[in-house]
Amino acid sequence: MNHTSRRSFIKNTTTIVAAGFLANRLYAQSATPPETIGPFYPVTPPKDQDFDLTKVDGRNGFAKGKIIYLQGRILNSNHQPIENAAIDLWQANAAGRYRHPHDPNPAPLDKHFQGSALVRCGKGGTFNFKTIMPGQYPAGGAWIRPPHIHFKITDEGHRELVTQMYFPGNRLNDTDLLLRTKSRENRSLMIAMKIKDDPETYEYNIVLKPV
Ligand SMILES: [Fe+2]
Repeated sequence: MNHTSRRSFIKNTTTIVAAGFLANRLYAQSATPPETIGPFYPVTPPKDQDFDLTKVDGRNGFAKGKIIYLQGRILNSNHQPIENAAIDLWQANAAGRYRHPHDPNPAPLDKHFQGSALVRCGKGGTFNFKTIMPGQYPAGGAWIRPPHIHFKITDEGHRELVTQMYFPGNRLNDTDLLLRTKSRENRSLMIAMKIKDDPETYEYNIVLKPV
């Protein structure tokens, strides 16, 4: 490589790296896309609404299914943590059934599964949940909803966000009538990242828009 072409190689490489860095920064700051609240928002949740959904206070026993951990942060559009935001989370049990009186799925309820949680994120906007991998469930016709977790995040100074989080590598993600309407970027913002196999742990950061 002569001096001129080397200089232009460095310049082009620098441009590509800078563009990539900028794209990553923009990507990291993109607001988490909203999604419908769905028909199964909890109406009679158990009193126990803590971060551990695999057991219910006062009951001896543990939820059926594969235990997973979910960790992440609530951030603003400048990628700064939002502390003390309220995280309202609900999901189907391992069999794909919600703890909701109008869920038509004949799959069994699990009295040891908490089904929902209502907590506040901590210092640095962090949250940690212990739960079970939600089951897939029929949603009418041939539509099968992939495993997902519903979130409603509220914080003064930011727009309320209602969304759904998906799991990486599930083939039902590609045919889901909600997820497949999203852009490629928005889909990737709604799918958690697996960061550990054993115990299975996922990371999911949520970015809120200002009011
Ligand atoms: Fe759902």
